[in-house]
Amino acid sequence: MKIEFLLNGNKTELEIEPQETLAQVLRDECRLTGLKVSCDVQVCGACTVLVDGLPVSSCTCLAYEAHDRRVETIEGLASPEGQLHPLQQAFIDEFAFQCAFCTPGMIMSAKSLLDENETVSEEDLIHHMDGNICRCTGYLPIVRAIKRAARTMGKAAPEQS
Ligand code: FES
Ligand code: FES
Repeated sequence: MKIEFLLNGNKTELEIEPQETLAQVLRDECRLTGLKVSCDVQVCGACTVLVDGLPVSSCTCLAYEAHDRRVETIEGLASPEGQLHPLQQAFIDEFAFQCAFCTPGMIMSAKSLLDENETVSEEDLIHHMDGNICRCTGYLPIVRAIKRAARTMGKAAPEQS
């Protein structure tokens, strides 16, 4: 079957098999290998991409569901000139990864939070990110990175005393 969708801002047409997942199509057909497949059962968040701005586990989303939708992956975040998205820069500045297997999914999930909200508190972000698992960092640097990006984007909620 044929699907058409907007992939990182580019109109994209593909011939797919009905049973193919979005993760398979993005990685194998589109060569966008930033998203990672780990659990393959919608538990870890490593495969997170945005579909119409919302985080989706691409390992369990069938590719045809992306038809006529807007899909964003980690590869689409930096500007064409190479300027990193504030989240990407904050993850570097806060050393918020070790093996980095979880990082693309973490960043895409955090992007949806920051895109959808005017202000984001630490409590909001911890709640929002609870579907993304990291085996390396202990999470604190990731929380710091998302808070840093929120400040950069003018979306940090005032700290509670
Ligand atoms: S690989 Fe998709 S949620 Fe874990
Ligand atoms: S940095 Fe290794 S799983 Fe998160």
